[in-house]
Amino acid sequence: MEISLSGRRVFLTGGSRGIGKRIGSFFLEAGADLTAPGRDELDLLSVKSTEDYIKANKDLNPDIFIHCAGINKLAGITEINPDIMQDVFQVNIYSATQLLNAFAGSMKEKRYGRILFVSSLYAMVSKERRVAYSASKNALTGLAKSIALELAPYNIMVNLVAPGYVMTDMTKKNLSEKEIEQIKEQIPTGRFQSEDDIASLAAFLCSDYNQSITGQLIAVDGGFTCR
Ligand SMILES: NC(=O)c1ccc[n+]([C@@H]2O[C@H](COP(=O)([O-])OP(=O)(O)OC[C@H]3O[C@@H](n4cnc5c(N)ncnc54)[C@H](OP(=O)(O)O)[C@@H]3O)[C@@H](O)[C@H]2O)c1
Repeated sequence: MEISLSGRRVFLTGGSRGIGKRIGSFFLEAGADLTAPGRDELDLLSVKSTEDYIKANKDLNPDIFIHCAGINKLAGITEINPDIMQDVFQVNIYSATQLLNAFAGSMKEKRYGRILFVSSLYAMVSKERRVAYSASKNALTGLAKSIALELAPYNIMVNLVAPGYVMTDMTKKNLSEKEIEQIKEQIPTGRFQSEDDIASLAAFLCSDYNQSITGQLIAVDGGFTCR
């Protein structure tokens, strides 16, 4: 099975590094027409920057929307503060809601669309000091399910992919070497996930092979969340 995204207009956040970078290159290899603005063009921490980007890109009309950008600011419940909660929710969920509010209308008109949120295994399980991150990724599930119901009659499939552990800048920043070794032992397949593991599922879910999967949170975690 070869996935073709030929002619599909794809809008991707978080395409500069890590998982998003591989999703972007994978989609390009599959023939997609990719728009992946960097932070200088679209700063998701800023409602104004997002508003300006939308105004300046009225004709983008993407067929496929992928929100991969994400931040994780470690804090437990006695450390958390409103700024951390606000920033993490702003990048991980509010910005995507603002962008989709602008982009979903044209998908409805075309009666075609694929929407994908890059969630996390921390929407299924969690870890200490992931208060804001885990809460934001759980909130994404609710957002996706509601949008999935609203847009299903228009042939728009809305899903979430939940990566396990991928060795990106985010993982290196937030886990010690000892934690990384401990986690590796708990992954049934015995290895961390690769960027390719996530990008290939993203491509399938956003392709025409997917005609019926919508509103689903799918883990790519080597079986980690089965325990
Ligand atoms: N790595 C993992 O093990 C793992 C596991 C589960 C879920 N995830 C999720 O996968 C996604 C990608 O994670 P990653 O590991 O690839 O992270 P990463 O290497 O830290 O990359 C994060 C991406 O988000 C972008 N971003 C962050 N803040 C932004 C802002 N204010 N405006 C615009 N872009 C912004 C970054 O752009 P800049 O280059 O400009 O900073 C970068 O492209 C995230 O949603 C994360 O929660 C990752």
